[in-house]
Order: sequence, then structure tokens, then C-alpha cells
Amino acid sequence: MSPRKEETRTRINQLEEGSQRAKPILHQHAREIQPYGKIAKLPIALDETACETSVNNLNQILADTMTLRDMYKKHHWQVAGVTFYQLHLLYDKHYGEQDELVDSVAERIQLLGGVSIAMAADVAETTIIPRPPRGREEVPVQISRLLEAHEFILKEARAMARQASEVGDDGTNDLLVSDIIRTNELQVWFLAEHLVAVPLLHPEQAKAALSGR
Ligand SMILES: [Fe+2]
Repeated sequence: MSPRKEETRTRINQLEEGSQRAKPILHQHAREIQPYGKIAKLPIALDETACETSVNNLNQILADTMTLRDMYKKHHWQVAGVTFYQLHLLYDKHYGEQDELVDSVAERIQLLGGVSIAMAADVAETTIIPRPPRGREEVPVQISRLLEAHEFILKEARAMARQASEVGDDGTNDLLVSDIIRTNELQVWFLAEHLVAVPLLHPEQAKAALSGR
């Protein structure tokens, strides 16, 4: 081979090698670096038992919060009736707030050395919130389901906040009290007021006068 041809061949080889290196290596598999349920402790001055207690509790709150968050989106899409517009917006606002809680809870689980639950199938297996039907339901039924879900979360969050305090995990106690409990309580108020039977046009007394009673 002439020196010129050899030089061209080397150059082509170099280019081919270069493009090989830039190729993504697909379909990779390996063992998990941390199994679900195990703690990989970080230096946060909390003992492993405290971390484990909080991680278990927070994963339950996480599954239930993800379920409630998704129920808000379901109702945001499926709502019907004269209050469609206001509820369509309110449901989405609450969805956004619950979504922020999901991220805060999941990231706290990680910083405690745990593994956050993440995928829908795992959430479905873990949550204690009853599954709604796939079809559309009336507004009072939608709101009742949401209120029930909020109450499940509030009840467990209060018990878990006390437990976090007992094991010395003040950060988890604060997240549960300041974020989970307060947000859920406020959302309950905004929803529950929609189930008060007040007349839309005439107050009760005026109605009675009009009907001659
Ligand atoms: Fe939307």
C-alpha cells in the first residue's frame, strides 16, 4: 500500500473508532445499587432506627399523597355541571400543591437514606385510599371522595408526626406538620364548603315569604 493510501486508511479507522465511542450503549442491566426497604445511611446525626421508622412512614404518606394528587387530576378532567369552571380550576390548584408535597416527601425519604416509592403499580399496592371507579361521577361524590382521602392522610400524618418527634427526627416532624397537615387541612376547608346546602338565589326566609308561609 502506498504511504498516501495507508494514511487515508488510518484516518478512516480513526473516524470509525471515534463514531463508535459516541454511540450510546443501550439495553444495559445490572443489580440494584440499593434494594427497596434498606437504609443507606447518610451523616445526618440520626441513628438508623430513627431513619428507618421515618422512611417507612413517609413512604406510606407518599403513596397516599400521590393517589390523592392523581384523584384531583381525574376530577379536574371529569367534572361536570354548573360549577364546572371553578372546580376545574380549584382541582388543578390542589393537584399542583399535592404534587409539590410528593416531591418534598420523596426527597426527604432519599436524604434519610431510604428508597422512595415511585411507580404507579407500587403506589396502588401501598395506598390506603379506596380506588374510585374509572367513570365520571357527580360533583358531590367527587368532593366526598377527596375529603375522605384527605382525612386518611391527616389521621396518619398526625400519628407519624408524633412518632418522628419521639425518635428525634425533627425534620420529618416539621415536614409532616408544616407541609402535609397544614396543606391538607386548608384544602379540606376549600372543598367542604362546596357541600353546604345554601340556596343560590333566594335566602330561606325570602323563599318562605314568597310561598306565603
Ligand atoms: Fe388541565
